[in-house]
Amino acid sequence: MESIQAIKQRFGIIGNDPKLNRSIEKAIQVAPTDISVLVTGESGVGKESIPKIIHQLSHRKHGKYIAVNCGAIPEGTIDSELFGHEKGAFTGATQTREGYFEVADGGTIFLDEVGELPLTTQVRLLRVLENGEFIKVGSSKVQKTNVRIVAATNVNMFEAIKKEKFREDLYYRLSTIDIHLPPLRERKEDIHLLFRKFASDFALKYKMPTIKLTDEAVEVLLKNRWNGNIRQLRNAAEQISVLEQTRTINAPTLKGYLPNYEGNLPAVIKNSKSESDFSSEREILYKVLFDMKGDLNDLKKLTMELMKNGTTHDVQKKNEGLIQKIYGDEEDEENYEESVEDLEVLSIPEKMNQLSEAIDESNDKYYFAEEVEEEETLSLHDKELELIKKSLERHQGKRKLAAAELGISERTLYRKIKQYDL
Ligand SMILES: Nc1ncnc2c1ncn2[C@@H]1O[C@H](COP(=O)(O)OP(=O)(O)O)[C@@H](O)[C@H]1O
Ligand SMILES: [Mg+2]
Repeated sequence: MESIQAIKQRFGIIGNDPKLNRSIEKAIQVAPTDISVLVTGESGVGKESIPKIIHQLSHRKHGKYIAVNCGAIPEGTIDSELFGHEKGAFTGATQTREGYFEVADGGTIFLDEVGELPLTTQVRLLRVLENGEFIKVGSSKVQKTNVRIVAATNVNMFEAIKKEKFREDLYYRLSTIDIHLPPLRERKEDIHLLFRKFASDFALKYKMPTIKLTDEAVEVLLKNRWNGNIRQLRNAAEQISVLEQTRTINAPTLKGYLPNYEGNLPAVIKNSKSESDFSSEREILYKVLFDMKGDLNDLKKLTMELMKNGTTHDVQKKNEGLIQKIYGDEEDEENYEESVEDLEVLSIPEKMNQLSEAIDESNDKYYFAEEVEEEETLSLHDKELELIKKSLERHQGKRKLAAAELGISERTLYRKIKQYDL
C-alpha cells in the first residue's frame, strides 16, 4: 500500500494535519473495494482529490473516471446526461445517446454536489446503486452497468433529508463510508505552509520573486476564517503575487485581500451564520435608508414646487409621475381618518441627515442625484415642517385643531402630513 506521504505527493496535496491524513488514509483503505463513498466538507477544502485517489488506487484505474457536477446540469437534462436517452425520447433527441453510467462501465463516477440531484434522478440513482440497473430516458429496456460511485457534498445532508430534498435510503446507500475533510480554519498548522506553496507556484508562473509575509501578516493569515477554504487562500496568494509591488507583505496589506477578516468588520463575528445574518440585515437597512432618502428628495422637490406655484392642482398635474412614485396608487382617502388618528410625530428628515453621512459616498452619487440645492427654499421647508410638527404635538395629533391653528384647511394639512411623512 502506498504511504500517505507518497499519495499526497502524487496528487499534489499539501498539509500535515492529522484529520487530513486520516481522511487520505481512509481513501487508501477503501479504494480496492467497490464500496460507495461520500466525501463531505465545506466548499474549497479539497474534496475533488479523494475520488481521484480512490479511482487510481482501485482495480478500476484503467477504466473511465467521470466527474459530474450535479449542481451544474439543468434539471430537465440530468437524467439523459446520466443514464442516456432513446432516439425520439423528447424534442431534440434525434439520436440514441449513451449516458455517463453506460460510458463509465467498469470505471468510477464522481457525483459532485450530489445534494443537488432532483428527486426523480435520486430514484434512478438508487436503483443503479442497488443492483447496477438503469433505463435510458424514453426506453423500457433495463440495462446493466458496473460503476463505482464516489459522491461529494458541502450541504448538510441530514437537513436536506429533513426537508425532503434528499432521499434517506439513497443517503445511506451513498455514504457507506464517509470521508470528511476539515475546514482550513481547523488546520492552523497547514495554513502558512499552503500559502508558501501557492506563493512559490505563482512566482514561477508569473516570473516574479516570491512574496513573503511579515510575522504580523502570518498572524492575520492564521486568524482569518477562510470561509472559502483552500480555494480562497489560493486566490488570495495569486492576487497578492500579481498586484503587490513590494514582495514583503505586511498585515494591513494582507487584510486588504481578506474581505471577511474580523478586524475589517465593525462587530465581532462568532460564526458564519451570524456573519451572514448581520450582513444581510445591514444590507436591508441600507436599502431602506436609501429608499427613504430617495422619497425624501422627491418630497422636497414637490414641496418646493408647491411653495413656488401656490396651487396644488398645477403641481399635482406637473408631477404626476413623482406623486405616483412616492404614494403608489391613488391617495386612499378611506384610510385618511385612520392614518391621521394614530399619528406619531417623528423627525425623520433630521435623522436622515445624520444617517446619510454614514452612507458610502459612491452610493450618494446615485441616490442623491436629484438633491435640491437651493438653501433658502429648503429652510422654508424646514420651517413649515417644524410648524406643522409643533402644532400637531400641541394638539396630540388632532388634525382639525392643528389645521385651524395653522390657518389651513384640514385637507391641505393631510397632504402635508403625507408629504413630510410625519
Ligand atoms: N491540500 C491541498 N493542497 C493543495 N491544494 C489544495 C489542497 N486542497 C485543495 N487544494 C486546491 O484548492 C482548490 C479547491 O479544491 P477542490 O477539491 O475543488 O475543493 P472542493 O471540491 O472541496 O470545493 C483546488 O484548486 C485544489 O487544487
Ligand atoms: Mg468542488
